[in-house]
Amino acid sequence: MIDENLINKIGEYSKKPSLFDKGYGSIWTEEYIAKQMLQAHLNPNFDGASRRILIIDETVGFLAKNVLKENSMILDLGCGPGLYAERLCKRGHKVTGIDFSRNTINYAKKSAEKQGLNIEYECINLFELNYFEKYDVVMQVYGEINTFSDIERDKLFDIVKNALKPNGLFIFDVSTPILRRKCGLRKNWYVSESGFWRGKPHIVLEEGFEYDDDIWLDQYIVADNNGVQVYRNWFHDYTIEKIRRIVQSCGLNIINVMGSLSGEALKEDSEWIAVIAQK
Ligand SMILES: C[S@@+](CC[C@H](N)C(=O)[O-])C[C@H]1O[C@@H](n2cnc3c(N)ncnc32)[C@H](O)[C@@H]1O
Repeated sequence: MIDENLINKIGEYSKKPSLFDKGYGSIWTEEYIAKQMLQAHLNPNFDGASRRILIIDETVGFLAKNVLKENSMILDLGCGPGLYAERLCKRGHKVTGIDFSRNTINYAKKSAEKQGLNIEYECINLFELNYFEKYDVVMQVYGEINTFSDIERDKLFDIVKNALKPNGLFIFDVSTPILRRKCGLRKNWYVSESGFWRGKPHIVLEEGFEYDDDIWLDQYIVADNNGVQVYRNWFHDYTIEKIRRIVQSCGLNIINVMGSLSGEALKEDSEWIAVIAQK
């Protein structure tokens, strides 16, 4: 027999949501999903929650050689399991890693301890930070800015600006509409005994929605014997003109733009824009 409540909920969640409505579940902090996310971060050959290890090594190598001064104080926002923080610490930088996923931060702390690395990790929502002129560099890697609404993004820039010392650098990357065109809109469903979303039998209904201004939503409706939950991944893609305008209106000066944080040149068909901005 079909549960009427279930059908009603799925019907309700299937309607196109209003812009940046977050839904009800969190892919980063819900315990079971956070564990799958950690596995995705740590998969060395897969651009999932973190980029492949090869790219991370290239990025840290490029930044160390071309951008960072020796012994910098670095704030890594949305640091995940510390893949960048550890490499930067080994090169002599003093790193603070911030992430709101308890599972990921616990892993990062243990990993640093095992290797004798002095990295400060804090499990906190980055929107609650209020550092003042403490860091030479703030970084946010792998497009987390794309997931924020305009209001959140501008708040993030304020937090970053406050945290930076005078002349400090904000290093970040954002995806462009080219990446989204390549990925396309989701429209899929499947049944699983156990998988990314649940460790027990469940069904997943995936759907993509498109909005004005290069904003997109990947939505996942997940149903199991406990009920239905909806997860939403929002993406706001940026063109070079748009990101320039935003960075400048937030009071930072762009000193370099590239096609990646490992130093590739920016091209018309770049999927990513990497930005180095100065306070
Ligand atoms: C795409 S992953 C990138 C992780 C890391 N920068 C990397 O490239 O390996 C985004 C990370 O940001 C964290 N995150 C997202 N929103 C956050 C918030 N509001 N406060 C703190 N951490 C956040 C997530 O938990 C996740 O670990």
